[in-house]
Amino acid sequence: MDLREQAARRALEEVRSGMTLGLGTGRTTQHFIDLLGARLQSGDLHDICAVPTSEATAHRAGALGIALTDLATHPQLDLAVDGADEVDPQLNLIKGLGRALLREKIVEIHARRFVIVVDESKLVPVLGQGALPVEIVPFEARAQVRWLASLGCRAELWLEADGSPVVTDNHNYLVRCWFEAGIPQPHLLAEQLSKRPGVVEHGLFLDMASRVIVAKADGTHIMDKER
Ligand code: 5RP
Repeated sequence: MDLREQAARRALEEVRSGMTLGLGTGRTTQHFIDLLGARLQSGDLHDICAVPTSEATAHRAGALGIALTDLATHPQLDLAVDGADEVDPQLNLIKGLGRALLREKIVEIHARRFVIVVDESKLVPVLGQGALPVEIVPFEARAQVRWLASLGCRAELWLEADGSPVVTDNHNYLVRCWFEAGIPQPHLLAEQLSKRPGVVEHGLFLDMASRVIVAKADGTHIMDKER
């Protein structure tokens, strides 16, 4: 079985009838959504509703008959399930290379439990092995890219194959930032990014995950947040 599907299958074991869920975005979460849809259709699970974190997730979940809701109606989610681009040993994450980081963060802070599903390739000793995505408003985008580069990274506006900027579900742009030595102080960087006008949100998801389900070739492993 595909490792992503293996992780998603394990996450599904945490779902009970009657729960309100947050549904993430990306290939691993797609497996989770498909498996959830199948369990609802078979009648094994019932009375589930979910807040989607992207248009793509809303579309996929809706097509499978998963009842969709919003945070105004359900401000407390029992469980949110999502993938990640990087996971460090403290369960801090980089997310957003699936282009949905803003809605993911908006939804996932409402979850009593936030469970991450990854394959082992996502485990890193220090965050910042790959790109950190940052969502910015389109106004004066090049000035934001220059400011991001001044933080000590290589920053590039994320472009589609045709050269046009990637546009998020929220009609914003994304910048990808590469830090040569990784991000040894993610909380400090998160604070700097949060204070910058024009930066809407960033892909550092710190102190948020309750559990990380890691699918490896030798089986599924669980990393839990220390209490
Ligand atoms: C979307 C995300 C994804 O969860 C992340 O990119 C991982 O995706 P995948 O499961 O496809 O590897 O953060 O914005």
